[in-house]
Parts: sequence; structure tokens; C-alpha cells
Amino acid sequence: MKTLLEQIAEKTADAFAACGLDPALGRVTASNRPDLCEYQCNGALAAAKTAHKAPILIADEVADRLKDSGFFASVEAVKPGFINLKLSGKFLAESLDAASADEKHGVENPHPEKIIMDYGGPNVAKPLHVGHLRSAVIGESVKRILRYCGNTVIGDVHLGDWGLQMGLIIAELQDRQPDLVYFDPDYQGNYPSEAPFTIGELEEIYPAASARSKTDEAFAARAHAATAALQDGVPGYRALWRHILNVSVADLKKNYEKLDVHFDLWKKESDAQPYIPELLQILKDKNLSHLSNGALVVDVAEPDDTKEVPPCIILKSDGASLYQTTDLATILERQKLFAPDRILYVVDKRQQMHFTQVFRVTRKAELVPPETKLNFLGFGTMNGKDGKPFKTREGGVMRLETLIGDIDQAVYDKMADRDLPEEERRRVSETIGLAALKYGDLSNQASKDYVFDVDRFTSFEGNTGPYIQYTIVRIKSILRKASANGLAASEKFAAPDSDADKQLMIALARFSEVMEQAAQEFAPHKICAYIYEIADQFNRFYHETNIMAEPDAAKQAGYLKLITYTREILETCIQVLGFAAPDQM
Ligand code: ARG
Repeated sequence: MKTLLEQIAEKTADAFAACGLDPALGRVTASNRPDLCEYQCNGALAAAKTAHKAPILIADEVADRLKDSGFFASVEAVKPGFINLKLSGKFLAESLDAASADEKHGVENPHPEKIIMDYGGPNVAKPLHVGHLRSAVIGESVKRILRYCGNTVIGDVHLGDWGLQMGLIIAELQDRQPDLVYFDPDYQGNYPSEAPFTIGELEEIYPAASARSKTDEAFAARAHAATAALQDGVPGYRALWRHILNVSVADLKKNYEKLDVHFDLWKKESDAQPYIPELLQILKDKNLSHLSNGALVVDVAEPDDTKEVPPCIILKSDGASLYQTTDLATILERQKLFAPDRILYVVDKRQQMHFTQVFRVTRKAELVPPETKLNFLGFGTMNGKDGKPFKTREGGVMRLETLIGDIDQAVYDKMADRDLPEEERRRVSETIGLAALKYGDLSNQASKDYVFDVDRFTSFEGNTGPYIQYTIVRIKSILRKASANGLAASEKFAAPDSDADKQLMIALARFSEVMEQAAQEFAPHKICAYIYEIADQFNRFYHETNIMAEPDAAKQAGYLKLITYTREILETCIQVLGFAAPDQM
């Protein structure tokens, strides 16, 4: 289904063509002076030069042709050559009839893709911290947007399970519990199925080991050796690694569940290991890799680089593989298992250079077909009010669980005056808290840093998740009342009878355009800006219109149709953002 803007632009393009001018001049934009008009076209200004005519004359001529299209209530040519357009109420109502009859509200995708999304990216044995929050929140929303738009999306958490953190834990554990069978090189039996630690212990062991390795050189060396031994397949270490993985994954799943973030694949860096030999062979066969100071590298600098892009190191001089190696091998794996049209990474923007290198090696080595798209969606840092990366009051790394708990509590406190049973108040606080957290993040362009501000994010007014939820709750309550009074919405939309009514309708009619653009640009913030506008338009309409007291039954039924659809659009949008609205708040 064509978007509203496309339909309008088609009409203006036809009108320019009918005047013997380039139809491309018919480009239309939403007006930046909504007091004057709803849409505008500036093509006559651009046409003037080649047509050797005053722009206002061209605008007049084009405007004349547009008047009878049935789309517009008014078409005005104004000096020096603008064409100002106001939509006809009938056309608007019919557009909404068509959109609301469509399951996807008019969203279309002529070229659906199979997309692998790499997001989340936590590291096992380390507690999920706020740094991983953005990847999860943004990634989940982009995934839902892309799916809404008809793509097949496979979300992969891509666990970090193969690096030094594993060796650190193993070495530390060996010091603490040297008698564990995992450390007995002569042990022949089966390893216990129960892990020798809990998640709580694991989360204490890792930071302790990490701190120790910074001052204790001998320990650091043992941790490195343990990492290499694990990667080489020493059975006791492999068994421990499996325990670490299982215990961590169970905890991670619980946390992601709380965030309403879901992955289709729980693949790990280690899963790419079997593909490394093939990767090395390809790089060698294509003459791409060479030794540099003992390390195996691929040059990836390009003549137009404005910033130095260093060679991509594939193997260190001791033969160990690196983060790059794993990512390249993973691309090989993904190509074999899924042959995706696109791989999209949602990772901290500080890893930009890493992905530039990885993508360049991928292209040079043709690890995927040339038409397969590789995208890096780099996000900025979540800062505290001091403008520095968000920390606990003590200056430590804030655990995600704690952060969520704090937000839920802030909402709970705000709702002290509500007449809600305790349990219900807790439940609603969690629903609102999640919206506050996610919307607070998603309403910013992903690449920008933002300031985490509990008070602002949890406010029921302004550009916040709770404000959007509140608007939906308000609509739900009106509809409940209407239904209790035996009132029903009309079958079709009515033409608007006030400016507030019309502006809300125009905003609703833009849904498919906004959703398609958000998908194209991987931009949840566009959905946020859109629903903020809808919520504002709705609230203006609601204040100006006494829906329940409307004496004209047909009009009243039209209003109910409009707000029912407003609710549907808002709920569709928050679903792709990754949260829901409660029934009351
Ligand atoms: N585990 C990594 C980190 O914490 C993020 C992984 C991102 N994904 C990837 N394919 N490199 O920094």
C-alpha cells in the first residue's frame, strides 16, 4: 500500500508532468508551518530556471491541476513559488479506512530479507552490566521493527565465552580448590554434572581473578596458559568451561527475560572455532595474509581512508586467535548455516574500528557473496548525570538487575497515592519501569551518548515511556466506559470536524511511512518521536472533544473509531519498542 506521502507526491508529480515539467519536481514534504498548510511542495522554485518562467506562475499552473484531484481541501500557490496543500477530510478518512483494514497498517516490503542480528553480546561469568543494556534494548527493538516490516530476523546473542576471562576463572578456581577433579591430569572418569560454584560465587571469582592478574604476574601467566589449554581442548578445563557456561547462561536468560529481550540463537564465540582453519586457508589461498612481527595479519587500509586503519591481526605471534579471528570465523559459520542477506551488529560504537577491519577482510576474502550486506549499528554510552559513563554511587559498575530494581522502585514510590492492591502496584510498577528504561534509551538516536535520569525517565509527562503508556491507559478507559454505555465505534472513519481531529488523523495516516523508514535506518528513535507526536495530538483532541457527551450519535461513533485506531497504532509501536501498557496506572 502506498504511504500517504507517496500518494500525495504522485499527484503532484503528475501535475508537474502535465505542465511539461520534470515530475521529480513534485517532491512533497510535511509542512514545517502546520498553521499554514499540512504538506508543501517547493518544486516550482527549482523549475523556474529551466522553464524560464517566474516560479509563482509555475506554482499557479501546477496548483490549478491539483485542485480537482480529490486529495486536497485547498491548494494554494504562494509567493515566491510555494505550493501549500491541505488534505481533504474525505481522502484522509478513506486513507485510514484502507490502512486500518490492512493487517500491517499499510507497511509493505517488496524485498524481504533474511537478516542475522548480532546483539546482546554479554560475556559469560561476568554479570550483565549496564554496558550490555543498550545492545539488548536497541537490538531487540530493531529486530522487532525489521520483523514487523516482513523480514526474517534471526537474533543471535553471540556470547563471549572464549577469551581470557575463562582462563582467569580456571586459574583462580585451581588456587581455591586445587583438589577438584578438573585439575587432575590423570583423571579418567566422567566429570560431575553439578557445577562446583553458584552464579553468586562465579560473579565474585571473576572480578577477584581479574584484579589479581593486574598485580600478580605469575598468576596472569597461568591464566593465559589456562586459556590456551582450554582452547586446545584439555578435558578438565573443557568440563569447567561447560559449567561456567551453563551457570551463566541460566542467569543471563533470567535477566534478558526481565527485559523482555529474546534471542533465537544462543551461539557463542567458541562455536566459531571449528571454522578458523578454513578461514586461515582462504586467507592464505587468496594471498591476503602475511606475517608481520611474527603475527599473521591482513592489510585492510584503503587509499581514501581519512583515519588510519591498521592491519587486521588474525593470529598473534604465539598462534592464539583473537576477537577479530572469532568474528571472521563466525561470519563464515553464519554464511554456511544461514546464507543471510544481511548481518547487522548492534555493538558499542567504540568497536567501530574492529568492525571496519572485520568487514574489510570479509569483503577481500569473499567470505560472503558481494550482495550480502554487513552493517554496524554502533551505539553511544549511557552516562550518569555527571556526563561520565554511568556508575554506582560507590563508583563501581552498576549491575543491570540493580538498575532495573531502582527504576521499578522509583515508579512504585510515585504511585503511592494510587488505590491499588500492593501486588498490583508492584506489577504495574514493573511494567512502567521497563517502559521508562527502554524509552529513555530508545528515544535517543542510537549513536549518541545519553544521560540516564531516573526522575525524567519515570515522569508521567513529557517525552517518556510512561507518558505514552498513560495515553494508552486513558484511551482504554474511555473505550471501557463507552462499551459499558452500549456505544460502539463506527465501521468507517469519519471526515475530521476539527483541527485537532484532523491533525490526529494525519499523524495516524503516517504510520507506514514512519515504520518503513525506521526499518530502513535501524532507527527506533523515529518510532519514539512518532508516538510522542501521536500522544500529544490525541491528548489535544481529547481535551477539545467531549466524546462521551457528544449528542450526534454518528459523530460519536466516528470519534470512537478514531481513538480505537489511535490505541491500535500506539500499541503496535510500543510492541516494536519492546514494552506494553498496563490496564491502569
Ligand atoms: N562480547 C563483546 C563485548 O562485550 C561484544 C560482542 C559483540 N558482537 C560481536 N560479534 N563482536 O564487548
